[in-house]
Amino acid sequence: MVIEPSGRVCGARVTGVNLREPLDGGVIAELRAAWLEHHVLSFPAQPMTDDDLERFTRAFGPFGDDPFIAPIDGREHVIAVRRRADETSSLFAENWHSDWSFQERPPAGTCLLGITIPPAGGDTWFADQHAALDAMPAELRRRLDGRLAIHSARGGYAPDGMYGTADLQTDRSMAIRPSDAAMATQLHPIIRDHPETGRPGVFGCIGYIIGVDGMPDDAARSLLFELYAWQTRDEFVYRHRWEPDMLVMWDNRSLLHRATGGYEGYERLLHRTTIGAAA
Ligand code: SIN
Repeated sequence: MVIEPSGRVCGARVTGVNLREPLDGGVIAELRAAWLEHHVLSFPAQPMTDDDLERFTRAFGPFGDDPFIAPIDGREHVIAVRRRADETSSLFAENWHSDWSFQERPPAGTCLLGITIPPAGGDTWFADQHAALDAMPAELRRRLDGRLAIHSARGGYAPDGMYGTADLQTDRSMAIRPSDAAMATQLHPIIRDHPETGRPGVFGCIGYIIGVDGMPDDAARSLLFELYAWQTRDEFVYRHRWEPDMLVMWDNRSLLHRATGGYEGYERLLHRTTIGAAA
């Protein structure tokens, strides 16, 4: 197995392993260590089936719970991230986020398998939140330390959210299911230690974070925007270029990520699974 770092703040490309077959414990341990070190691993030339994708996901933890998006036919745990060539709906997941950070136990990671990849555009960007914290000005960190963020899916998936009932009237091809359940809130520390490595980092960003516990809304919003400008700075970002049959797995506890466009006129299809938090 060969693990080549991206040369950016995070990310590594892994070759010399066949993900279409069950992996032995030693390989899984090596991959887990690389995942914790580089936060995003990409595996080119892996024409995996959904069975392969599910088996690979389960090697790293339980399946996570995916709300607000229906799974593909015949699967409980696989979501299609899809956009038709002629689709005009807003881009899915274009805002920076950590997947499902509004849950009580947010998922450890996400696996995304590139199936139909446009010739240009559609990169996924990752922002390393350990690096962002390490380099953070002390004065900003002082205002964040010990604070709890209020996370919620309401801006995205509530009936009046970005993917709410109005969006259901668009030509979106993804199976998004808005719901009142998105109004729920959950507190998480803004700065917290990674549950496996213990390395401190920033967790989440404005979007799924809708406020700061015990702070007036205006003050919270301005603090969260200041944090956002810092945590998404170019030096903390790795821009991932996709290839067909490429699997990518990332660590939601260490990263923010976002989708990007620039592939108008081309279809894009990826299958996604979620690695839940360890029991
Ligand atoms: C996602 O956030 O799961 C989607 C990322 C992408 O489409 O690039």
